[in-house]
Amino acid sequence: MKYLDAIDPVAREIGAVNAIVNDDGCLTGHNVDWMGAEAAIKEVTEIRGCRFLVLGAGGAARSICYALRRNGAEIVMLNRDGKKAETLAREFGINSFGSLSEISKFPDYDVLVNATSVGFFDTENCAVPESAVPHNRVVFEVVFYPVKTKLVQMAEARGCRIIPGVRMLVHLAMKQFELYTGEQPRSK
Ligand SMILES: NC(=O)c1ccc[n+]([C@@H]2O[C@H](COP(=O)([O-])OP(=O)(O)OC[C@H]3O[C@@H](n4cnc5c(N)ncnc54)[C@H](OP(=O)(O)O)[C@@H]3O)[C@@H](O)[C@H]2O)c1
Repeated sequence: MKYLDAIDPVAREIGAVNAIVNDDGCLTGHNVDWMGAEAAIKEVTEIRGCRFLVLGAGGAARSICYALRRNGAEIVMLNRDGKKAETLAREFGINSFGSLSEISKFPDYDVLVNATSVGFFDTENCAVPESAVPHNRVVFEVVFYPVKTKLVQMAEARGCRIIPGVRMLVHLAMKQFELYTGEQPRSK
């Protein structure tokens, strides 16, 4: 972000950029991750009034928390590095946070969000220990490749509904297309 000429106010508030528009050499940073996440979640579940357990405190987690907060969700934030979870939680006004290793102490939620990079190009590892994978809830797997991460496979076997990362990717790519071309994407 420090190398850009300008930052869109929403991207500034989120603290992460995932689209850069080049206007004759003037580079402006935007964030459309949050829009992709919001649209993907709403395909499967309500946001308002639901409790989301968000794992991760990087750029994806920041964008998702922005979307969740904007839609009136309750958020619990856990990260491998618990200090980073605390910093992000305080920034976003989230009262409940901790270290990922304490996940079993936070069983009360409607939607589990994996916003860590664990599982990306990797079907062996999962951010969530098997004992903490929920039954019959909603799981948002932000990792988009492979589509069937270890978390998705375990959650599906336990009757969970899945929000696949690839749906977030499709929605945010549509927003990027609009930013880059000034045109609405449309199917043939
Ligand atoms: N579906 C989509 O459209 C979409 C959009 C954006 C991003 N993503 C995906 O989301 C994932 C995260 O992206 P990001 O930009 O947020 O990355 P990032 O800023 O680098 O953050 C990575 C996060 O993963 C955690 N992490 C890394 N290795 C871990 C491990 N072994 N165990 C537990 N936690 C671990 C980190 O925890 P620490 O802070 O403790 O290091 C941090 O919270 C990536 O896989 C990315 O491809 C998907």
